[in-house]
Amino acid sequence: MTIKVGYFVGSLSAQSINRKVAEKIVELASNDLEFVEIPYQDLPLYNHDLDGDYPQAALDMKAAIAANDAIMFVTPEYNRSVPGALKNAIDWGSRPWGQNAFAGKPAGIVGASIGAPGTSMAQQHLRNILGFLDMPTMRQPEAYVQYEEGCLDTERTQSFLKAWVDAFQSYIELWHRANA
Ligand code: FNR
Repeated sequence: MTIKVGYFVGSLSAQSINRKVAEKIVELASNDLEFVEIPYQDLPLYNHDLDGDYPQAALDMKAAIAANDAIMFVTPEYNRSVPGALKNAIDWGSRPWGQNAFAGKPAGIVGASIGAPGTSMAQQHLRNILGFLDMPTMRQPEAYVQYEEGCLDTERTQSFLKAWVDAFQSYIELWHRANA
């Protein structure tokens, strides 16, 4: 069975280390998982005055979320929290009230940082948000990547990311079986 996984990279940078990590996860995952990146760089800042007239970029993003069986977030930490651009995308996806596109989609979180905290605080904040959005979110294993040049080519990092994505696949399958 093919499982469709949409993923958000929490950085808009063309050189994003988090996108590199996401692409490595896609490469290491089993063929049962079909990944697609969900773009959000064209979204305006969320404003609930627009709830009755959603911008096309937000409608497209919500449709992309709905088309997937699960959602993966691969995000940096900005000032000990979730990057504003990613939070803005999540806010658009969650509204109008009662039409939350994320509800019931199993989620997995990964983060890469150049620093020792390895996005742990951003990930905890993101868990708080996803809990409210009714996303069943894999708790273990966690994935905090302290990024160094070349790390994605090492056996150590690859086996770590492979174990994470295999666990995420099992989590998604279990959740969908239980809720079929
Ligand atoms: C950072 N960085 C950072 N790192 C960290 O471990 N904890 C933090 O709180 C922050 N805060 C922070 C704020 C802002 C505005 C920037 C631009 C950066 C450093 C961050 O880990 C590094 O820039 C990564 O390369 C960001 O990931 P991407 O964009 O390369 O995927």
